[in-house]
Amino acid sequence: MISPLSLRDTETRHESRPALRGSPSRMSTGHTGMINVDLLLKYDGNYPRYTSYPTAPHFVDKVTGQTYQNWLRNLPENQRISLYFHIPFCQQMCWYCGCFTTITKRYAPIENYVRTLIDEFRLVADLVAQKNLQVSHIHFGGGSPTILLPQDFSEIMQEIRQHFKITDDAEIAIEIDPRNINEEKIKTYAREGINRASIGVQDFNPDVQKAINREQSFDVVYECVKMLRQNRINNINFDLIYGLPKQSVEMVKKNIDISLLMNPSRIALFGYAHVKWKKKQMRLINETDLPNEKERILMFREASQKLEEAGFFPIGLDHFVKKNDSMFQAFVDEKLQRNFQGYSSDNAEILLGFGASAISYLPFGYAQNTSDFEQYKKEIMSKNLAISKGIELSEEDKIRKKIIDEIMCYLEVDLKKFELTEEEVTSLLNSKILADLKQDGLLRLKNNTIKINTAAPQISRIVASVFDQYFQNVQQKFSKAL
Ligand SMILES: C[S@@+](CC[C@H](N)C(=O)[O-])C[C@H]1O[C@@H](n2cnc3c(N)ncnc32)[C@H](O)[C@@H]1O
Ligand code: SF4
Repeated sequence: MISPLSLRDTETRHESRPALRGSPSRMSTGHTGMINVDLLLKYDGNYPRYTSYPTAPHFVDKVTGQTYQNWLRNLPENQRISLYFHIPFCQQMCWYCGCFTTITKRYAPIENYVRTLIDEFRLVADLVAQKNLQVSHIHFGGGSPTILLPQDFSEIMQEIRQHFKITDDAEIAIEIDPRNINEEKIKTYAREGINRASIGVQDFNPDVQKAINREQSFDVVYECVKMLRQNRINNINFDLIYGLPKQSVEMVKKNIDISLLMNPSRIALFGYAHVKWKKKQMRLINETDLPNEKERILMFREASQKLEEAGFFPIGLDHFVKKNDSMFQAFVDEKLQRNFQGYSSDNAEILLGFGASAISYLPFGYAQNTSDFEQYKKEIMSKNLAISKGIELSEEDKIRKKIIDEIMCYLEVDLKKFELTEEEVTSLLNSKILADLKQDGLLRLKNNTIKINTAAPQISRIVASVFDQYFQNVQQKFSKAL
């Protein structure tokens, strides 16, 4: 049970109290309502993106390779599982990059890494060999998985098939850097069953591209999309970022227009997370070129409007999907998941992560591999799992996680659905920060349900933080919510 006393509350943040505006219901309207920008600005602050709960800064070294091994041995049988492979290599560093990756011009370290990755996969697969687990989702992320030579990519896929049954409806997805793709790679992906590709587009404007050290022409993206479609990989996602240096609201709108020409079925419109204390390449970005919070809000608002006019449905914090995209159905069926890949329509409740820094999620908790390449290799060569930290979920964590996932996925949560006493629900709903957001028309509180105004999905991070028992002490470690 959540103790009402442990609720996080913020007493002194907001001053003005404009009249309450009705918030649209989940299915009827998107993000395009007119929220007063200055009103939203009052809530500026650093909050987690809640791709996990508890969030990664709370992982502890008490969770070891041995803990993970026990968790794997205790997994229930006949489950659907999701696999994640992390490929932490790129050819050139984008200055805005918040991912765990390394730059290499040589293939030898990558080849070496793939050998270790396969050894790690075999270790884990052997531990769960008797459980009749079926793989319903595979994701290759990074870094840039497209840096792999086709034969190395195929080898990983063959290894998966040797150890597990992949379900007929499985989604097999890869993140694509369009600058290091070619026909041979795409043909290999198609042959191996890839059916979704996420292309790193970011921004089409040459000045912005220079300011982020990622120069990539329209043609490069266009050719990539064309080759994917020619090879029947038709589920195409674009990653775009707003809030980049030298960007203007008009440029972000133009990025949407250009993207629409290529008809992706899903667009992730990420707010640039400037966390220069964590990622030293971000210090190369000239901060005077960064748009301010007000401009960021307008960029998101205008881009959302364009996307919704073009028939995209807004999902959660930053995703937009066509109604024929699997994520739309997952949303309607309330089967959407929030995880380290952002949002996922995958229906597995177990995620096994492979590779340096990869995070696994099991019913017992999270376990994260070391991000030290040498250590990772050493552990796997000694037939140990390479876990360096994680967190075991308490019963209370599990309830809080469910509430936070609902908020992040649907921008609303019915607290009655959880094992909470009447008193706890009342106490939650009376939280000061929720009351302030309600006063400002940014959410609605009714019949035990919190509904965030879908015109301000950024608020979801703030609302989720109310339910985050660990949040208070580490606020400075996160990126800006707005
Ligand atoms: C692993 S990359 C995608 C694949 C490939 N490496 C590429 O860049 O084309 C994941 C995505 O995260 C997003 N991203 C990376 N750093 C970010 C940041 N600091 N803020 C917001 N989004 C970011 C980018 O949109 C990027 O496409
Ligand atoms: S954004 Fe993608 S290509 Fe650029 S450094 Fe990060 S992972 Fe590599």
